Amino acid sequence: MELQEAIRTRRSVRQFTDEKVPHALLEQVVELASWAPSWKNTQISRYIAIEDPAVLAEICAHYVPEFNARIIGGCKTLVVQTFVKARSGFERDGSFSTDREDGWQHYDCGIAAQTFALAAHDLGLGSVILGIFDRKGLEEYLQIPEGQEIMALIPVGFPAAPNGAAPKRKGVEDLLSYR
Ligand SMILES: Cc1cc2nc3c(=O)[nH]c(=O)nc-3n(C[C@H](O)[C@H](O)[C@H](O)COP(=O)(O)O)c2cc1C
Repeated sequence: MELQEAIRTRRSVRQFTDEKVPHALLEQVVELASWAPSWKNTQISRYIAIEDPAVLAEICAHYVPEFNARIIGGCKTLVVQTFVKARSGFERDGSFSTDREDGWQHYDCGIAAQTFALAAHDLGLGSVILGIFDRKGLEEYLQIPEGQEIMALIPVGFPAAPNGAAPKRKGVEDLLSYR
């Protein structure tokens, strides 16, 4: 798929077929996402693919609101995006590099997640970034290592239907100014 077309046609996909996501395909997506830029090439983003139906059901029941549980309940693979803490935006002595403080690690995750989503789209998969969930509860349930934090949940699968109309975008005149 041509890049401009991929950028324009990627949509948040919230309904998936019952087909499992082949590991080789998911690995291709993660390999492509690894090319995302990051603070001093720290590459802090990590991906945990949850496929166990019992674990997915537990997440739906206890760690996400109903509207996100409906999405996760219909996917075969939930990618939990985590990041290695205190690298991106930090000096070696642990101090912040800028007044953005610990914000750069979230920024890096966002770039990685969009690269992931575009790569998934190019390979015929749909995905949606979910930001509303019980982060601390889920970190405990999934036993996320001490040095990492969950950034986002990304259900992935084959889209159940062709993409509908895109939510409207602001015009360039609203987004860009010159000085
Ligand atoms: C950081 C972030 C958090 C989001 N959280 C949710 C969410 O919790 N639930 C959901 O259904 N969609 C969520 N979305 C998807 C947005 O609603 C979606 O990207 C937006 O409406 C634009 O639609 P599009 O992705 O199809 O272009 C999130 C997107 C981002 C980038």
